[in-house]
Amino acid sequence: MQQPCLHALKHGLSAPVGIEEPALKGDSGPSTNAESVRPFLVFGALRIEEAEIAGVEACLRSGWLGTGPRIAQFEQNFATWRGGASSRVAAANSCTAALHVSMVAAVLEPGSEVIATPLTFCTTVNAIMHAGLIPVLDDVDSVTQNIDPAAIEAAITSRMPAILPVHFAGRSCAMDKIMAIAQRHGLMVIEDCAHAIETEFRGKHVGTFGDFGFYSFYATKNVVTGEGGMILGRDEERIARALILALRGMNKDAWRRFSDKGCRHYQVWSRAASNTT
Ligand SMILES: Cc1ncc(COP(=O)(O)O)c(C=O)c1O
Repeated sequence: MQQPCLHALKHGLSAPVGIEEPALKGDSGPSTNAESVRPFLVFGALRIEEAEIAGVEACLRSGWLGTGPRIAQFEQNFATWRGGASSRVAAANSCTAALHVSMVAAVLEPGSEVIATPLTFCTTVNAIMHAGLIPVLDDVDSVTQNIDPAAIEAAITSRMPAILPVHFAGRSCAMDKIMAIAQRHGLMVIEDCAHAIETEFRGKHVGTFGDFGFYSFYATKNVVTGEGGMILGRDEERIARALILALRGMNKDAWRRFSDKGCRHYQVWSRAASNTT
């Protein structure tokens, strides 16, 4: 019989049918004795409460599931939370998509190099490559596990328009040093904040230092929508371009196109076209 793991026991959860729960190290089997279960931080245990359930129900009852008024509200709330205008944020269906479309929207020279870190989830680097750029992975600091500013400085070449620091496991990169390097060499800074939605560096939120900040709302993150991502940007034009790219090139989502006044047309932008606007 399949045995539930400790966290499942504590939270009354069980694995989906047919999926084996991995055994925990030192776990000699399930116990229903609460005294013998040591408390530990549970990875990815969501708090889905009545408000979230009511929100999903209201969405279903509204008859509209695609990008529309709720996403617009979420973008507005996120922008307000970070003290900016809604024209500086764009929701995406994942942090990976957010990274990808922003790198395309940044219009970096194809084949140029972006400095990143090897200590991240693979999509940080995949997004660089999908945008036609070349990742250069610098070493990390052995204590913070974040990209080492000295390694960035040593790796800079003339073919390098951007740095992509990752605030790993909720700990901020040394943004004072990274921003100073970026300013000295005229580099764009693209912050991966997938792990760090509430992280601050010296009282300032990460994601607000560079040209772009990216957030993930994947099922295991601190703020969860299931799948989802957000772009926070300094330049409104780049954000507008990223929004269009995230919407398969359409400049109006379906919610904005159809109304009782009739159908408004939309244009599909190609990447090539977006690079020239
Ligand atoms: C550092 C980092 N960046 C980007 C991502 C991608 O986020 P998403 O799953 O929302 O695409 C992850 C996902 O875990 C991540 O850990």
